[in-house]
Amino acid sequence: MNKLALYCRVGFEKEVAGEISDKAAELGVFGFANLKENSGFVIFECYQIGEADRLARALDLRSLIFVRQMIVVGNLLQDLPENDRISPILAEYQPLAPKNSSEIVVETPDTNEAKELLTFCRKFTVPLRAALRKQGWLGAKPSAKNSITLHILFIGSGKCYAGYAYNFNRSPHFMGIPRLKFPADAPSRSTLKLEEAILAFVPAADEKKRLNENMIGVDLGACPGGWTYQLVKRGLFVYAVDHGKMAASLHDTGRIEHCAEDGFKFQPPKRKQIDWLVCDMVEQPMRIAKLIAKWLVNGWCRETIFNLKLPMKKRYQEVKLCLAFLQDELTKQGLWFTIQAKHLYHDREEITVHIAVLGKKS
Ligand SMILES: C[S@@+](CC[C@H](N)C(=O)[O-])C[C@H]1O[C@@H](n2cnc3c(N)ncnc32)[C@H](O)[C@@H]1O
Repeated sequence: MNKLALYCRVGFEKEVAGEISDKAAELGVFGFANLKENSGFVIFECYQIGEADRLARALDLRSLIFVRQMIVVGNLLQDLPENDRISPILAEYQPLAPKNSSEIVVETPDTNEAKELLTFCRKFTVPLRAALRKQGWLGAKPSAKNSITLHILFIGSGKCYAGYAYNFNRSPHFMGIPRLKFPADAPSRSTLKLEEAILAFVPAADEKKRLNENMIGVDLGACPGGWTYQLVKRGLFVYAVDHGKMAASLHDTGRIEHCAEDGFKFQPPKRKQIDWLVCDMVEQPMRIAKLIAKWLVNGWCRETIFNLKLPMKKRYQEVKLCLAFLQDELTKQGLWFTIQAKHLYHDREEITVHIAVLGKKS
């Protein structure tokens, strides 16, 4: 097994290929990205033996923007016999240590055609899990050091990759997709983007400390209020900046002030320390990056989540330019910060970025 299978949104395979080639090279790993457009996954074949496993351990999944899940796989298993699909899969796992494995998941890429196999995948998991257990697999605790989850990726009927991911470096979500329920009282479906972003960027154990009723937020491009809703739900008071109309239900909370202003000109009210800036304005990505840099450099907010709308072409290059610009600006000003970017499940032609300022060099 010396390949990585990387799951992504359909249509973003080229971005994944570019990104994995860059990030692997930074770790001194070289390989070849094999992709089929609109397949929802990319195979990255490493040139040196053992390197796919090294990437699965050393390349933080959270640092990959366009990748939802990353698993080590071998060659595609094809023409699995209908009367015994399990034996070839068990044979594929032979070189691994059974005791390290904690669970098995049977998945497909996130395409309409592949998803037709999901009922089969669910049913197939049961006998496969039983067969693995019988041979001493799946006994590890998920939290055990270097334990792995086995992943089977079915890309067509009778065709799958058998692989694994380290539990400390995998998405806990089936197919790498968090299933969020749309809150019935939220003003727009966009609300799920910010909810997923908070889930991705703020560890659950920190959420109360980092988002609470003693805090103030600013939402640039707030209408009708899906993102403001998420902040208000967590107790924040929110300045909602937009020329549009905010949902009446948000006004009723008494936790917002609607500012019908231009988000590029808005400044935080005097003597108010803003904790969170969120921004979902549809604008050129570099213009948004410059605006966010201005807020952080001026110390107008501590943490921010914002979207960068992607251009039609050279999407990965544009993302790299914007992130490099932000890194440079903040570093030049002596700020200590963390930056993460992700193409979330609820994002379409955009990515979501999180920056937290931790301090300033004196
Ligand atoms: C994608 S929508 C935001 C949806 C919102 N996040 C939600 O969850 O309901 C983009 C919003 O940005 C606003 N917008 C665009 N340019 C703006 C600007 N320069 N200043 C303020 N708002 C702007 C638009 O009026 C629109 O309401």
